[in-house]
Amino acid sequence: MIYHRQTSKPHTNRKDWDNLKRLFPFVWEFRGRVVLALVCLVLSKLAIVGMPLLLKEIVDGLDSPNGAIVLPIVLLLAYGVLRLGSSLFNELRDAIFARVRYHAMRGISQRVLRHLYSLSLSYHLDRKTGGITRDLERGTNSLSSILNYLVFNIIPTAAEFMLVAIILLGQYEVKFAIVTFVTVAVYIGFTLAVTEWRMHFRHRMNRLESEANTFAVDGMLNYETVKYFNNEDYELKRYDDTLHEWEDAAVKSQNSMSLLNFGQGAVIAVGVTFMMVYAAQGVVNNSMTLGDLVLVNALMLQLFMPLNFLGIIYRALKYALADMDMMMRLLDTRQQINDIEGAAELNVSDAHVVVENLSFSYLEDRQVLKNISFEIPPGKKVAVVGPSGAGKSTLSRLLFRFYEADIGRILIDDQDIREVTQASLRENIGIVPQDTVLFNQSIFDNIHYANHDATLEDVQNAAKVANIHDFVTGLPNGYDTIVGERGLKLSGGEKQRVAIARVILKNPRILVFDEATSSLDSRSEQSILASLKQVAMQHTTLVIAHRLSTIIDADRILVLDKGELVEQGTHQQLLSQKGLYAHLWQLQQEEREHELALESVADAI
Ligand SMILES: Nc1ncnc2c1ncn2[C@@H]1O[C@H](COP(=O)(O)OP(=O)(O)OP(=O)(O)O)[C@@H](O)[C@H]1O
Ligand SMILES: [Mg+2]
Repeated sequence: MIYHRQTSKPHTNRKDWDNLKRLFPFVWEFRGRVVLALVCLVLSKLAIVGMPLLLKEIVDGLDSPNGAIVLPIVLLLAYGVLRLGSSLFNELRDAIFARVRYHAMRGISQRVLRHLYSLSLSYHLDRKTGGITRDLERGTNSLSSILNYLVFNIIPTAAEFMLVAIILLGQYEVKFAIVTFVTVAVYIGFTLAVTEWRMHFRHRMNRLESEANTFAVDGMLNYETVKYFNNEDYELKRYDDTLHEWEDAAVKSQNSMSLLNFGQGAVIAVGVTFMMVYAAQGVVNNSMTLGDLVLVNALMLQLFMPLNFLGIIYRALKYALADMDMMMRLLDTRQQINDIEGAAELNVSDAHVVVENLSFSYLEDRQVLKNISFEIPPGKKVAVVGPSGAGKSTLSRLLFRFYEADIGRILIDDQDIREVTQASLRENIGIVPQDTVLFNQSIFDNIHYANHDATLEDVQNAAKVANIHDFVTGLPNGYDTIVGERGLKLSGGEKQRVAIARVILKNPRILVFDEATSSLDSRSEQSILASLKQVAMQHTTLVIAHRLSTIIDADRILVLDKGELVEQGTHQQLLSQKGLYAHLWQLQQEEREHELALESVADAI
């Protein structure tokens, strides 16, 4: 499945519930803390609702018909204690819940990244790194927000609302409760309706933001290319066009928010006015005291304070749910290449590779490999040559099981590679890929990557075989030299040699060299080839080569053309067939003579 970032489609509540349910296990891990936090929450709410009650007593005490004779010291003190208590329990709740929240964030980030690694190469070739990292970041943040909103706002507000309802219904005429309920209901209904309507602006903003980010990251990754083609303006324009749309959506989003806020304010104003009118009437009729008026007013304002918040929370929650949904989609992208159930470990004894009737296509109507069969006997070297685009690298990807063959199979020591675990398969194959990309770490780290148990000496020995040790020790920082993003601070040939050293250090039974020396000049190539020959001696080796002179010693040479195996044999046999191979050889010989002539001129100078 190709990954879709777009979420302009309004999603259903059911899906939100499903997503929330998936978060539950992360929170449940710390259930003790969750319960404790909830206890703190209830205590703090009790303190908050207790304050207006005390206030009423204080006002009534001061307003008693006999006049205020004594200061209600105890009540005043209690009032202060309640205020202190509410803030104390609030903070305690936050402190206790922090661990739950950040632990859950960590858990889900880990899960998503693990999932990304488990996805196949084809997924990652289609992906947009900038977009993914943003979705991941927003997804984990959304998890934190959702937990926050639920635990710190929604549940507390509901609890408070219930407490207020109990007080109003218990102590006053029913019309107070009715006004409160109606106001709250209208408020919530209005908020939900308007928020739903303006959600799509926000979705659009999210999508455009991801898109702009993808453009920016892609441009930065291709910095050199952008410069070569003088395309800064083009890149900036693409970025700006997207941001322009984003700007429009953002303005609409902001304006609709003002509308929402004003509407909410209006509902509250009407509700509070009604309450105050009723309460004032009560005071005039003597059915209520001044303290009651103060209490009703305080309760009402207190109730709407978090409710006012609830509007913002609801919106934020919806956005967080949308972000979460993107992350869940990422998690739902299915792995294309799975280990079969009960897959065995690959057991390599001779390292005998057999390819049988292999056909493969990346896209439906374009076959890249057509019915390929060959074998690499234990410890032998087979070379694959052919024009660009013939499917040579594809062959190595299939051997690595980055893709699955459509027809046919690959056997290693009589085990079908689809029936063994991918980990054990990849452990036994080492590859020097056509395009080497290095981590932005030191040269040592990059070589050491192949075997985390290797010592500095092992790394240096591998580097010696790969003919790069002298180069590295000549650098000011030696093995600690940082290679730059994707290895850009090294030349193509140096990068290739680091990749060769890395494979030598891994020392697998089966080796694949995909044009491993293509970036080297003939002389360095010769010296590495000699070392590689040494390395390849006890290994089953597949060499993909462009320069035929590098593979004349192969035990067997396969000539691939447009996905078909058109010729095979040893160098001599193929030359005498006078087919494609002989033709390519001829061409390259002429080139080579030309090159040699140039080199001798260079030597003379
Ligand atoms: N991920 C992909 N999706 C679709 N088509 C692809 C993909 N990767 C490669 N191809 C196509 O498959 C064909 C074979 O590609 P492959 O990389 O195997 O060629 P190659 O023989 O290694 O060529 P070269 O000598 O230039 O490296 C090419 O036409 C290429 O465009
Ligand atoms: Mg290739």
